[in-house]
Amino acid sequence: MASPQMVQRRSPPPQQSERIELTNAPRFAPRLQTQRTSNTGMTLPMSKRIVLSSDHAAIALRQTIAEHIAAKGWEVVDLGPTTPESTHYPERGAEAAERVASGDCALGIVLCGTGQGIMMAANKVKGIRCGVCHDTFSARMIRQHNDAQMLAMGARVIGEGLALDIVDAFLDAAFEGGRHGTRVDMIKALEA
Ligand code: RB5
Repeated sequence: MASPQMVQRRSPPPQQSERIELTNAPRFAPRLQTQRTSNTGMTLPMSKRIVLSSDHAAIALRQTIAEHIAAKGWEVVDLGPTTPESTHYPERGAEAAERVASGDCALGIVLCGTGQGIMMAANKVKGIRCGVCHDTFSARMIRQHNDAQMLAMGARVIGEGLALDIVDAFLDAAFEGGRHGTRVDMIKALEA
């Protein structure tokens, strides 16, 4: 049995209605990435609005991530679900990806059992670059080199602590542009 000091004290995840938008922005701007570099090297303001979505396999992890990100000053658009009935990850991934592709949200995080199916769905939306990451190095690199706007993870693959570190690595990194911009442009050309 865990000793008292080992018991993790967290506030319970917020009780969410079908769809909620967490706007738990702190009074002062946090030390977060607030600018990004365009493919041409220009510095652009980066909106701090992020969409989260999952299937039934990742509800608890998604809610933990939503709480974590909101505490860091992000405006979280949580598309659910909140009830455990089986749901279809292609619909969940596409819905989140549309929010990013439309410009409504700057970034997105999608979750399913493995992260793989919902990543595949998100990548079918034109303009979206989404990678499955279960390590912090990859999460940083898909921002720095691939200009990925979306991160996918599998709730049946990793634990909560690593998932939150991966989220931080993804959010704190910025696209480097330069030769990587040339390559991202080549990806874009594939879907033209
Ligand atoms: C659902 O059982 C599972 O297939 C889904 O969460 C995901 O792992 C698919 O890629």
